[in-house]
Amino acid sequence: MKRPILIHPDPRLKKVCAPVPDLDDDLRALADDMLETMYDAPGIGLAAPQVGVLARLLVMDCVKEEGAAPRPTIMFNPEITAVSDEVNTYEEGCLSIPEQYADITRPAEVEVSWIDRDGKLQTSGFDGLWATCVQHEIDHLNGKLFIDYLTPIKRQMITRRMQKLKREKARA
Ligand code: NI
Repeated sequence: MKRPILIHPDPRLKKVCAPVPDLDDDLRALADDMLETMYDAPGIGLAAPQVGVLARLLVMDCVKEEGAAPRPTIMFNPEITAVSDEVNTYEEGCLSIPEQYADITRPAEVEVSWIDRDGKLQTSGFDGLWATCVQHEIDHLNGKLFIDYLTPIKRQMITRRMQKLKREKARA
């Protein structure tokens, strides 16, 4: 089932999310809903606070080659355990900040540990778009948005646009 995506500014997007306790069917259903919501948007990553749930859960799939098999990835309680000195700059966007993009520089490679959908501990290295995406999504779990890396003036400009968009949506 698709879930509505919160649009910035929203206090729920600024909260540090709580770790997920033992997995249960409700949490698995939430993760599946988030994947469906992400693919439908369409996007390559989505964090639980973006659907109003303040829990440490993210989903992503950064496969973008035409015809390639999808790689739906679900991470409960993800933690970055190592980062590279080398950095990478990508033009980032966010489903909670529609149609706004900015170049953000982050470590080019990260190692992440998380609990998967079956409750198993996983550890894996990520690079390229996957590395950017997983860092962007983990930021969401700490109440941080990509626009928080921008200058206050740029951030305010984007926030004003989003406030206007929300007013227009409320009227529609
Ligand atoms: Ni985002």
